[in-house]
Amino acid sequence: MLEKAIDFSHSLLKKTVVPGDIVIDATVGKGNDSLLLASLVGPSGKVIGFDIQEQAIKQTKEKFLLTGLSERLELHQTSHEHAHTFIPENKAIGGVIYNLGYLPGGDKSITTTYQSTLTSIKHLLPLLRVGSLMVLVVYSGHPNGLKEKEMLLNYVSGLNQTDYTVLSYQFINQQNHPPFVIAIEKRKKKHPI
Ligand SMILES: C[S@@+](CC[C@H](N)C(=O)[O-])C[C@H]1O[C@@H](n2cnc3c(N)ncnc32)[C@H](O)[C@@H]1O
Repeated sequence: MLEKAIDFSHSLLKKTVVPGDIVIDATVGKGNDSLLLASLVGPSGKVIGFDIQEQAIKQTKEKFLLTGLSERLELHQTSHEHAHTFIPENKAIGGVIYNLGYLPGGDKSITTTYQSTLTSIKHLLPLLRVGSLMVLVVYSGHPNGLKEKEMLLNYVSGLNQTDYTVLSYQFINQQNHPPFVIAIEKRKKKHPI
């Protein structure tokens, strides 16, 4: 059976994130993606999460207290444009997830925008460990969404295939802008002999 976009994004991360990894949740929201990542990185790993809204940070902290996984999570109430500055020096990251759009149950006028999303992607891509993934769940049904989708697809389809493999996973016969997934894999560089 075909997985929904969000389930597919999680399946990809389950295959690639390993215990001990440092991973990024670029849009924490209600903390569901952070929770999945925390279960994958194990006690020696770390999830570093970003959201611009206090409500998202608060909800996620509370969610983690209930699970006992708080020690694996570091939250920052700031834009994901700054995420790269929170990665320890010389450390590669084992995965990144963006779940774009607005906070479910929150203020629908506060959404991700293509400007900050692209800036952040450009900073984080070079930090990915070889074989790991940046996964984006893209919602184009809100006012900023269509432009964000267009700008993202334009950028990722131009990434050099020697460095990155880029996948788009989408349902093409559904109405009302169903979410879709973009996954970017960091490839191993072939060394010249
Ligand atoms: C669809 S929600 C995320 C859902 C979430 N990952 C979950 O598991 O529940 C999108 C979130 O992105 C946040 N956001 C918007 N612009 C942002 C930015 N520049 N940096 C970080 N987060 C941002 C919003 O505040 C919102 O909470």
